[in-house]
Amino acid sequence: MTAGLTTRMLRADAAAIHAAARLLSDGGLVAFPTETVYGLGADATNGAAVAKLYAAKGRPSFNPLIAHVQDLAAASFLACFNDAAERLARTFWPGPLTLVLARAPACPVASLATAGLDSIAVRVPAHPIARALLAAVGHPIVAPSANRSGHVSPTTAEHVVTDLAGRIDLVLDGGATAVGLESTIVACLGRPVLLRPGGLARADIERALCQPLVEVSRSAEQTNNEDAPVAPGMLTSHYAPHTQLRLDVDEVRRGEALLAFGPALPKGATQALAFENLSARSDLVEAAANLFSHLRTLDAAGAAAIAVMPVPREGLGEAINDRLTRAAAPRRTGRAGSHR
Ligand code: TXA
Ligand code: MG
Repeated sequence: MTAGLTTRMLRADAAAIHAAARLLSDGGLVAFPTETVYGLGADATNGAAVAKLYAAKGRPSFNPLIAHVQDLAAASFLACFNDAAERLARTFWPGPLTLVLARAPACPVASLATAGLDSIAVRVPAHPIARALLAAVGHPIVAPSANRSGHVSPTTAEHVVTDLAGRIDLVLDGGATAVGLESTIVACLGRPVLLRPGGLARADIERALCQPLVEVSRSAEQTNNEDAPVAPGMLTSHYAPHTQLRLDVDEVRRGEALLAFGPALPKGATQALAFENLSARSDLVEAAANLFSHLRTLDAAGAAAIAVMPVPREGLGEAINDRLTRAAAPRRTGRAGSHR
């Protein structure tokens, strides 16, 4: 549908950011780096641009988007902040935290972007290129991760081109992203709920709130029903390479690639068809930054499966394990053809 566009890739200097802002203001689609992953941007107030964005990603249109803005003041035009939300925003913005809040009465974001919900997801990114783009556009920008729906999130401009060439107007190249995992999503509609673990660790959020986050219930049945997701976007098989993953391995089987963590490798590691280490020094921050890019590399190796060593669950390990579990989930019938 959207295929057929010429997709340009530009190093994100001042002229490129200016060109990107014009494209966005004219209803175009521009991928740009944030500190978490690359986002695919559209003017949030332009319903036609948002519709094009869903088509380019092949994303089910019930799955709402995050509105990116420059600061808390701009976010206050879109959403209603209760005390918890304001505290989190003041503590962690700009940064890898998205807040799901009640939509403000005069919110200008197209209702397609929020899938008709009364709530809206807002985030203030820290990446200087994202911030310069927001300043130049002067409107909120909706930006899902810049991958085809169901694929792994992009952490470099090249990843974006692999997935979306011919479907979007421009990719701003700002090098590899620092965090490497999508933002943590917290709903502050009542008691704060963790909707998606991500680039900001749960413990940091709980410390700022002085209370534990409520866990969203994710039964397999609910999360696998694409027509009625409990928390939109929490589809079990969302983050998926083509190659099947085998998790928590202590032995590599014949024909498998190995995704390692830490200095001690499992039995059979030397026979692995391809090898990447998330962090040889067992650093979870480094592992998060490497996760999606290493998955893509190993996915291209033509291995029978990707064997993944256990990754500890503390700090960013919670989000890393969440993404690995999704990537390993059995594929839903009907998704395979359309999304990979
Ligand atoms: O780090 C990130 O968050 C990146 C960068 C580009 O900012 N963006 C990103 O967007 O990961 P996306 O669309 O791939 O994931 C956003 C998630 C989806 O799972 C969506 O369902 C959820 O946020 N979401 C958006 N609005 C929501 C709402 N009102 N209620 C619950 N979930 C919502
Ligand atoms: Mg995504």
